[in-house]
Amino acid sequence: MATAPSVVVVARTRADLLTEPADRRPAGPVVLVPTMGALHEGHASLIRVARERAGDGGTVVVSIFVNPLQFGPNEDLDRYPRTFDEDLAVCGREGAAVVFAPTVDEMYPGEPQVTVEPGPLAEILEGRTRPGHFRGVLTVVAKLFGLVRPDVAVFGEKDYQQLVLIRQLVADLCISGSRGALEIIGAPTDREADGLARSSRNRYLDDEQRRQATTLSRVLYAVRREAAYGVEAAMAAARAELRMAGNLDLDYLEIRSPDLTELPRDPAAIPPGTPARALIAARVGSTRLIDNLGLTIGVPATDPPSEGSS
Ligand code: PAF
Repeated sequence: MATAPSVVVVARTRADLLTEPADRRPAGPVVLVPTMGALHEGHASLIRVARERAGDGGTVVVSIFVNPLQFGPNEDLDRYPRTFDEDLAVCGREGAAVVFAPTVDEMYPGEPQVTVEPGPLAEILEGRTRPGHFRGVLTVVAKLFGLVRPDVAVFGEKDYQQLVLIRQLVADLCISGSRGALEIIGAPTDREADGLARSSRNRYLDDEQRRQATTLSRVLYAVRREAAYGVEAAMAAARAELRMAGNLDLDYLEIRSPDLTELPRDPAAIPPGTPARALIAARVGSTRLIDNLGLTIGVPATDPPSEGSS
C-alpha cells in the first residue's frame, strides 16, 4: 500500500531550524540525509534508511545545498542540476519531516576563514584529480552537523571515500549529536537494472554515453568475481573488461582496504578472507563518474552481490 506523502517543513535559515517549537521536538533521533538535491531513486533509498532508523518517534531532515566549496574551478557547479520542487516531492513521499535548503549566503556569509583539513586520505583517489574537494565536503558537512545537530546521519556508499572521511571527521573532531555520539550510517549503492550506480550526474549522459557508463560497474563486478583468485587475477579481469570497453577515459581503478589504506604489495601477505574495496573513476564524454564495490579476497563472491554498510 502506498503511504501518503507527509507535509514537509522547508527551513531556509539557521533561525528557521532553531524556531522549531519545543513541543514538536522529536522523542526519537534526528536523522539527517545531506544531499545536493537533484534527488533520484538512490537518494530516496537513503531517505528510506533514515526513516527506518528514525522510527516512529524520530525525525528525518534532508538538507539540499549545492556546496560551491567542494567544486573545483573547472567543474560543473553552474550546470549541476537544481530541481527543488521535484526534490520536495521525493522528500514528502519518503517521509522526511524537514528539508533544510539554505542559500549560499546563509551558509557562507563571507569567504570561509576556517575550514576542515581532511588529512592524507583526501590526497588519494578522488583527491588526486579534485584537489580541495574533500576540504569543501568536510567543511560543509561539519556546518550541517552544527546546524541540524543530528543524532544519526546517512551517507551513500556510492561516494565511498567521502563516507570514510566523514567517519574520520566525526571521530577526530569528537562531533556528537544532541543525545550523545553521532552515528554515521553508510547506505548501500542503489543501481539501475544494468548495474549503473545511480547518480545525479547520470542525467548528463546521452544514449551512447549511458551505455558506455555501465563499464564502471562491469569492471567492478569482474574484480569482485576474480578476487576469489587474488588481487592480481582481479586486476587482470578488470584490464580485460576495460580493453573490451574501448575508449573509456579511466582515471583510476584501485583495490584497497575498507579503510582505504593500501593492501600489502606481496599477494602472499593477503590471507584469504581479507575484506577490500575496489574503486573506479572514469570520464564518459565530459562527465566524470565514480563507483566502488566491497569484496573479499580469496573467497568466491555471492551473486547477486550484497554490499551491506561498512
Ligand atoms: O554527497 C553529496 O551529495 C555531498 O558531497 C554532500 C555530502 C551533501 C556535501 O555537500
